Amino acid sequence: MNSIAKAIKISDKVYWVGAVDWTIRDFHGYRTSRGTTYNAYLIMADKITLIDTVKAPFRDELLSRISSVVNPSEIDYIVSNHAEMDHSGCLPQIIDIVKPEKVFASTMGQKNLEAQLGIGSRITPVKTGDSLSLGNMNLSFIETKMLHWPDSMFTYLKEEQILFSQDAFGMHLAVDKLFDDENVWDVLEEEGEKYFGNILMPYSNLIIKLLDDVGKMNLPIKLVATDHGPIWRTHIGKILELYRKWSEHKPVPRAIVVYDTMWNSTAIMANAVGEGLRETGVEFKILPLSVSHRSDVATEILKSSAIIVGSPTMNNNIFPTIADVLTYLKGLRPSNMIGASFSSYGWSGESLPQMNEYLKSMNVELASEGVRAKYVPSETDLKACFELGKLVGDKLRAKIQ
Ligand code: FEO
Repeated sequence: MNSIAKAIKISDKVYWVGAVDWTIRDFHGYRTSRGTTYNAYLIMADKITLIDTVKAPFRDELLSRISSVVNPSEIDYIVSNHAEMDHSGCLPQIIDIVKPEKVFASTMGQKNLEAQLGIGSRITPVKTGDSLSLGNMNLSFIETKMLHWPDSMFTYLKEEQILFSQDAFGMHLAVDKLFDDENVWDVLEEEGEKYFGNILMPYSNLIIKLLDDVGKMNLPIKLVATDHGPIWRTHIGKILELYRKWSEHKPVPRAIVVYDTMWNSTAIMANAVGEGLRETGVEFKILPLSVSHRSDVATEILKSSAIIVGSPTMNNNIFPTIADVLTYLKGLRPSNMIGASFSSYGWSGESLPQMNEYLKSMNVELASEGVRAKYVPSETDLKACFELGKLVGDKLRAKIQ
């Protein structure tokens, strides 16, 4: 076992014992350009407690960090806040090594840990409002169903005022410094936004309710210890405020134009659409899929209220990269969007109605039936694209006023 990695003390009795993944660049379809961390925490109470574990290949790093504080076999309790494999992958092995008195998870956590790892019988289920005495310290549990899995929950350590929030308020960011104020705020905001856009956006309504419910509990919180990225201690108010803003997704005067192209016709049309948007004063960003990843599009949609999509017609279909990004965005369920489509084609032209159907299925309000150009767009076609951008920009402005 690697015995180099050490625990990092984050409060009087609590240590970070997680792992840093500097190499990961793809997290089931989400491009993690800055790596990530799998955070786990050790509470050195009378009953020594481990909060969460790590992704399976990082088991030894976790054990090494724990061993720098205490022999792992002295751990009494394990709490699994979230059953997804990046936090539970090595849980069966850790249970075998540690032989804890008890392992706690939500009721859905017990089911999911059984379905994925066959360890349901080892789990003691807990629910919102339950508390657990660690002797000289106390934990309480708050279920956060569908944020972002059915099993998700928060655990609160009363004596040190730490909220262990699993994925919530986290980000995929490999860090050498653990606290928010030891990192650059702009990077935290950018990666936090990307994480919300790609993971949490579909559950925005539940997040608003959770923020309200936790607010009513009036819990004093000194640290928000997430399962990914830095621990919040200085900017807790700012990240909570951003979560509310991102969840509400109120209309803003900003649009994105997402397109791919075969022989440049759709690219020329995209630029003409952009000129139309410019005319209205609406902020816009053009995202060619040759250089924009689907997870960047999801982040951009979080700060926009209109999407205009352009695709060639290829073999009677939408271009594959456009189908990819629309499928991804549909799952993320962005709210309060207006939109439109444009396409180029040679001998048929199915991609335009197909894109429109896609946008409608995402509850995007269509500004028009869109623009279609045969082979190379003519001056008339480009004027129509310009007008399309202008129409969307005007409708967006009208919606905001
Ligand atoms: Fe970090 Fe939902 O797992």
